[in-house]
Amino acid sequence: MKQFYMPTRIVHGEGSLSRLKEFVGNQDHVCLVTDKTLVGIGVARKVMDLLSDIGAKCTVFSDVPPNPHEEVVEKAVTQAKKAGCNSVIALGGGSPLDVGKMVAFLLTNPGKLEEYQWDNRPTDAPMAKLINIPTTAGTGSEVTATAVIISRNTKKGIKRDDLFAMVAIVDPALMVSMPPHITSTTGIDAFTHAYEAYVGLGANPVTDAWALEAMGLLIEYLPRAYVNGQDMEARENVALAAVLAGVAMDQAGLGVIHSCSGPVASYYDVPHGLSNAVFLPYAVSYNLIAALDKHVMLAELFGMDTSGLSRREAAGLAVDAVVQFLADLEIPEGLYDYFGTDEDIPKFAQSACDMFLMKNNPRKPKPEDLIPIFEAVLKR
Ligand SMILES: [Fe+2]
Repeated sequence: MKQFYMPTRIVHGEGSLSRLKEFVGNQDHVCLVTDKTLVGIGVARKVMDLLSDIGAKCTVFSDVPPNPHEEVVEKAVTQAKKAGCNSVIALGGGSPLDVGKMVAFLLTNPGKLEEYQWDNRPTDAPMAKLINIPTTAGTGSEVTATAVIISRNTKKGIKRDDLFAMVAIVDPALMVSMPPHITSTTGIDAFTHAYEAYVGLGANPVTDAWALEAMGLLIEYLPRAYVNGQDMEARENVALAAVLAGVAMDQAGLGVIHSCSGPVASYYDVPHGLSNAVFLPYAVSYNLIAALDKHVMLAELFGMDTSGLSRREAAGLAVDAVVQFLADLEIPEGLYDYFGTDEDIPKFAQSACDMFLMKNNPRKPKPEDLIPIFEAVLKR
């Protein structure tokens, strides 16, 4: 049994931020959930000025750190309730968007975050109006019903249909200030979402279409956005790819890459996109035989010449293509500078196998299958 559900309106394109006025009125008191960097570089101000033009009230919560904990959510909810907010705009990368979702949810639902995160408490009421405005192109959080918040020392995703935003405004003009290495690694995060959704067990024809389109756009436009951050056509298409990949991932699930990258990123504090990128070629190589036709399609998407080859040989070209793609984006081949001790490797391999996301991977590794991969990625 498969289903597809995605109720968020997506508004995309250069200048689309100006359409905010269609979704906010003068009865709104918005809690703007964002981070200090976006306040510092004036991006939050753009949103506040638009809200002021509309006549909407605005309370800013800008204390969202990378990898937010539950305390951040509780603090934001307390502030929003005290100010009398009735709606939320989440502005930023994955972290402000994830916190914003939970603030909108807890504005109308009683109790604490952990009751919903750990005890699966049912929803009392629809969440407050939520508008997601991403400023990076990668996490896809703007179109997902998932919020990842650290609780009980675990990066714990909360996934429920109540967390879909009313609208996602995806304006690439907000992304031009992203430096090249952030552009490339966040873009590869989007690529891994699409890849894992495409080859995963939860894939269906709708998610396949979104995932393939996302990967095709990233293959063409991510290198352009990397070499010239001002290339608006490239930025626009990379942002679109992140949205398509986000929807595909939310509906179809993830797999071995995010399962391996999770423990590494949390123990070593490696940026999420980078930790996914280094596992990507190994994952493609490992998954090949479990989804041969899909890897042939991936090789062809990269423009590899598969004529006259067996399906196995053609699928193998996907690995070469991915390696070249990452090299073009100057992404490091490993996380050697982050490596701790040899004892970490079996620990990471076991945690990766225990990850819920791994259930969706087309091939099921044992910890000993992953140890050589962790060694290659972590040890020079
Ligand atoms: Fe991701």
